[in-house]
Formats: sequence, structure tokens, C-alpha cells
Amino acid sequence: MTTTVQPRKIVVLSGSGVSAESGLPTFRDANGLWNNHPWQELASPEGWQRHPETVQAFYNERRQKAWAAQPNAAHAAIASLEPAYEVVIVTQNVDALHERAGSTQVLHIHGELAYARGTSPRRHRYRIDGAPIEMGRLCEDGTQLRPDIVWFGESVQHFDEALMHVTTAARVLVVGTSLAVQPAASLARYAHQSAEKVLVSLEMEQVPRGFVFMRGKATEQVPALVARWLAEAQRTGN
Ligand code: OAD
Repeated sequence: MTTTVQPRKIVVLSGSGVSAESGLPTFRDANGLWNNHPWQELASPEGWQRHPETVQAFYNERRQKAWAAQPNAAHAAIASLEPAYEVVIVTQNVDALHERAGSTQVLHIHGELAYARGTSPRRHRYRIDGAPIEMGRLCEDGTQLRPDIVWFGESVQHFDEALMHVTTAARVLVVGTSLAVQPAASLARYAHQSAEKVLVSLEMEQVPRGFVFMRGKATEQVPALVARWLAEAQRTGN
């Protein structure tokens, strides 16, 4: 099957590095969350079964910090592409900094801190923004509310939609992710052969095939790239 690339479409695959300069921690860097906290206890259904209070408190603190953080120059630059391009952000991040910078199409494949959900498979969601979830607060189906976060062993959200967007984008930017977690990481490999593919990160062990690696901080590299893409759109008469 041949895929038609949409010349004005940009997909951004983002990870925690894009929010690092807003003061939020990454996962696997020296001060990363999973270097200081056991993910098995805090990001798995088994950990939730064993000690729900600890898990709830961990995400309540992260939610509060994420809500207090401000979007940075990388989030703002990505949002500024929208008048010239169709931009779809596929983010592993659970903060809302892309939306708060003005981006309108954001797929959170690992869930969102700003929502609580029940624990039954019906998965009712409630918007809570920065508020904590208390133990004992129940969903309308009678189950305890938990963070709307995808834990290890649970299914990612919006994957098919994300895949469709990646395969049809003329430009793909991967920013601030180690590409260590599947299936999120696999999305980069589905970028179209003819697409312009750029990866921005401080480090990258293995740059996916076809990507140009712009090593450096998201707040420096992304605005430079975006300025070029906006100039190109203007030249070609958008
Ligand atoms: P990682 O901690 O694995 O990777 C962060 C990446 O961002 C690294 O490649 C850093 O070099 C880069 N980085 C750090 N600061 C940066 C900056 N200022 N500018 C540019 N790049 C920077 O985090 P993720 O790839 O986001 O999942 O982790 C993926 C998933 O693992 C998370 O969504 C989370 C975690 O387990 C769940 O909780 C389900």
C-alpha cells in the first residue's frame, strides 16, 4: 500500500526532555525519576495493588509540580507552527505544557496527570487539572479514582491514530526522548521515507535511520528549526 504524504503536515514525537527546561524531571538522566524511584512500585498495576496510597501521593506531587511549571521556548515554538502547518503532537509526556503553550492537537499516549479515572475497565475519566486525588474518592462506577497514567503493562492510548499521523507527515520532529520505551519509540521508524526527519536531544545512543541529529537543548534547537520551517512555508506560499 502506498501512503500519501501531506506536504503541510508536521508530527512532533516528544518526551520528557522537552519539559526539562520547565523544571520537570526526565526519567533516565542522572537526576531522572526512575533513577531515584523504583518504577516497579510507582508505575505498575502491581505497585498500585500493593500500596495505592504511596502511588497516589507520588502522582499527586508530580501533578502539583507539572501544574506549577510553565511552558518553555520549545513548547512555544512548536505551537507557533500551527498557522502555517497542520501539527500533531504525539507525546509520551503526562504534563499539559504543549496545550498550555497553545498547541491544539496533542495525543497523550502515556496518559495525562490532569485527569483522574476509575479503576474498572470502563475507564471513566474526570478532568482535575492540578488537584490531588484523595484515597476514598470514588468514580461514578464505585471504584477508587487513580491517575489517568499508562503504567507498565497497560495499553498505550491513541496508538493507531498516532501511527496514521506519523506515516503521512512530511516533517517529523523527535524531541527530548531516549526512545527507550515501546511501543512509543517504534513510531519514529514509521516516518515516511521522503519526510524530513529531525531528532533533538542532549544524547542519543542510536539515532533512528534517516533522522538528522541536532544535539542540544530543546529550548535552543527547536526554535531554530521552527524558524526555518516557518520561513520555508512562507517561501512556498502558505
Ligand atoms: P528519558 O529520561 O528516557 O529520556 C529523556 C531524553 O531527553 C534523553 O534522551 C535526554 O538526553 C533528553 N533531554 C534531557 N534534557 C533535555 C533538554 N533540555 N533538551 C533536549 N533533550 C533533553 O525520558 P522519556 O524518553 O520521555 O513512561 O521516557 C519515556 C517514558 O519512560 C515516559 O513517558 C515514562 C517513562 O517510563 C511512563 O511513565 C509510562
